[in-house]
Amino acid sequence: MFDRSPGSPVNIVLADHDRDWMMTAAAELAQHPQVKVVGFAQTGQACIDRAASLAADAVLAEYALPDMTASELATALSEASPGTAVFAISSAITGQLVMTAKTKGVADIFPKEGFVAREIAEKIARYVDDLRKEWSQVAEKYGIVEKGVGPKGVGVRTIREVVTRSMTQSIILCHCPKGGVGKTTVAVNLATAIKNSPVYSGLRVALLDFDADYGNALSVCNLGFNATLSRNLYTWNHVPDELTPSEVDELMVPMEPSGVMVLPSPFNPAYGRKVSKELADKIISTLKKYYSVIVIDGGPKIPECVEVAMNHATHILCIAEPERQSVENLARTAHFLSPDPDAPEKPDFTYLLRKMVIVLNKVGQSRYDLKPAEVARGIGLPVMAELPFDDAVKAALHSDRGLQAVELMPEAPFSLAIKSLANDICSAYPEMATARAAGQNVSAHHSVRNKGGLFSRIFGRG
Ligand SMILES: Nc1ncnc2c1ncn2[C@@H]1O[C@H](COP(=O)(O)OP(=O)(O)O)[C@@H](O)[C@H]1O
Ligand SMILES: [Mg+2]
Repeated sequence: MFDRSPGSPVNIVLADHDRDWMMTAAAELAQHPQVKVVGFAQTGQACIDRAASLAADAVLAEYALPDMTASELATALSEASPGTAVFAISSAITGQLVMTAKTKGVADIFPKEGFVAREIAEKIARYVDDLRKEWSQVAEKYGIVEKGVGPKGVGVRTIREVVTRSMTQSIILCHCPKGGVGKTTVAVNLATAIKNSPVYSGLRVALLDFDADYGNALSVCNLGFNATLSRNLYTWNHVPDELTPSEVDELMVPMEPSGVMVLPSPFNPAYGRKVSKELADKIISTLKKYYSVIVIDGGPKIPECVEVAMNHATHILCIAEPERQSVENLARTAHFLSPDPDAPEKPDFTYLLRKMVIVLNKVGQSRYDLKPAEVARGIGLPVMAELPFDDAVKAALHSDRGLQAVELMPEAPFSLAIKSLANDICSAYPEMATARAAGQNVSAHHSVRNKGGLFSRIFGRG
């Protein structure tokens, strides 16, 4: 009989019409200490037969197999081989595809381009181990695990909301020339929330610490100094321009347990100051080829690397505290970027302004706090989200478990507001939008003012 205790080998069947691809993927996946590829299948039907006969713990299947989709495969396997978890890969991932697949019982879906075997193998192993723990508890209670208690029956949330917007790449910069307004907190929680979302869990999310000369994403992400000595912004000076997905992966530090890949700032601030425009551009341009979402913690001031990040960004989140200093600093940025009829020689920066929105973050609580409308008027940009003051932030920071607020206390008002922001930016939490549309109290603080999506708030539509 097979050993099914947590930590024991995880047997996988691969399914893809292309046998060469399966050979390469199998070799790469087998680098994982727990994972063993025990079978190949070139059609869905062959995959069902093989998974059942080999008692596979999981299958990793191309979404569009010649005779069926991975969603159909999951439905069929829940009958034919109830213990087998189904994972999919696809070269054409859209939000709709992910949600349809997950509703049908596919555990996760990964992009085929930039296939990083280490990450996928780890995800499958962890999922299978969790499932085994669950079954052993069920078995303890009821003596036997019934047929049908497969991936379809256990732990699969049904999400009815259908995402129709196709997924485009998001590059999100958290910016404010003033320190202490919550840039790092927002950047880290946003990246974590996106990676943990049902839509993005199989996609790749990066977090860059562009607070180059003294960033603290290191401590907020609980990475440990040693991990960053050879993997930081400065070390990218020496990497070649052409890299494979796995090589890129090795140049980043994984954040546990979310799997967000972090590129920290150098430990030595002297190297931080040497992060040039060219280097920053090389880093972002390279990572853009491999990551669906890149979140950048901008740090205070606007050094050259932040200028580069502004150019690449699809969203520039101006993090503002409801107090005068952060408002005036951001107002200066907005003013500097605005066209001036009296200075026609000034370069046109309106393309940057159009990407900028205010994220109002309450790092403290005072009855003298400025009102959101005063902040918007003071800076001259639209408010996209309001993040409440919340002890969950400090609870996470001081918990020593490396969990972010959105993980430690997912239902806290701050966490809900971050998820709502993640949904506005890249449709990561469709259920937040549904709850909002239905007038539910997603967050007591939030629901009142946060109506509509990004564009309706920026352009006053809807
Ligand atoms: N919404 C919030 N509620 C409670 N504390 C917060 C919140 N946002 C940030 N903080 C705290 O405020 C401080 C400054 O945040 P940080 O993210 O380091 O700012 P920055 O990166 O802009 O310098 C940190 O101690 C952080 O834990
Ligand atoms: Mg910071």
